[in-house]
Amino acid sequence: MHISVLLEECINNLNLKEDSIVVDCTLGYAGHSSEILKRIKKGYLYAFDQDKEAISKADLKLKEIGNNYKIINSNFVNLKEELNKLNINEVDCILYDLGVSSPQLDEKERGFSFHQDARLDMRMNQEQELDAYYVVNNYDLNKLVDIFKKYGEEKYALSIAKGIIKDRPITTTLELAEIIKDNVPFSYKKEKHPARKVFQAIRIEVNDELNVFETSLKQALELIKIGGRIEVITFHSLEDKICKRIFDEVSKVDKNLKNLPIIPIEYQPKYKIVGNIDPSDNELINNNRARSAKLRIIERVR
Ligand SMILES: C[S@@+](CC[C@H](N)C(=O)[O-])C[C@H]1O[C@@H](n2cnc3c(N)ncnc32)[C@H](O)[C@@H]1O
Repeated sequence: MHISVLLEECINNLNLKEDSIVVDCTLGYAGHSSEILKRIKKGYLYAFDQDKEAISKADLKLKEIGNNYKIINSNFVNLKEELNKLNINEVDCILYDLGVSSPQLDEKERGFSFHQDARLDMRMNQEQELDAYYVVNNYDLNKLVDIFKKYGEEKYALSIAKGIIKDRPITTTLELAEIIKDNVPFSYKKEKHPARKVFQAIRIEVNDELNVFETSLKQALELIKIGGRIEVITFHSLEDKICKRIFDEVSKVDKNLKNLPIIPIEYQPKYKIVGNIDPSDNELINNNRARSAKLRIIERVR
């Protein structure tokens, strides 16, 4: 089962109105989308996901609430293009709840988890070609080290990558987890699971998660109406850094103009940061997935 993270905080801060046009970029199991749809009886919801299983379950849930929605089976990197195809050029609210859902992690066949044995896969979109098996068995040493460092912030990137190359072919998640364990110092194994960071790195690589998010977020800033809000829930520092950097860039006055007594309207920022919210203590007790979550909110002001 998937328990939505920061659900109440997200819904309360979207400034939803009955006729709002809303985009949920990460439909998943429709936790957020269901609550949105209940509140926009005269509005419309566009919901993206690239996972067919999630889409069919979410559709059943949304149908019970209303019919004023459309599910778009596409990567949210195509946000603008897909909406433009439907003649939608501006919207009131856009939400991202990044990463994978609990069912994706729990279904062992999807190959995301280092706790369950399955073929190395990790594709959110089951139709895409690149999968974890290809990355683990074909990338050269430099490329493996690079992604383990960049996307996993893994300090034993080199020894793990060497171990992988020595033990190829590697077919399953547990084989990979064992190789990782064998190539880190004993003391490291006492911290969190030693395969955690490398699995995160491979998942980000397979789904190109950081590039896709950055590209999409820039499109979202163009699509949002004046007075509209974008919310982003991130689950690790790499995603969060991208979001923070982009929100900071678009909400600041150009440093060359800062000393002017009055900043002409055309040079004032188009966006205002509304705030950041962390999960409450209560949520942290009830939902383990909320541990590293953070919600960032920005509003278009002109
Ligand atoms: C954390 S879950 C969302 C859960 C949802 N908010 C809920 O409450 O049920 C993330 C979902 O976004 C989807 N997803 C992640 N990256 C995506 C992308 N680039 N394009 C489309 N869908 C994506 C995943 O397949 C997954 O179903």
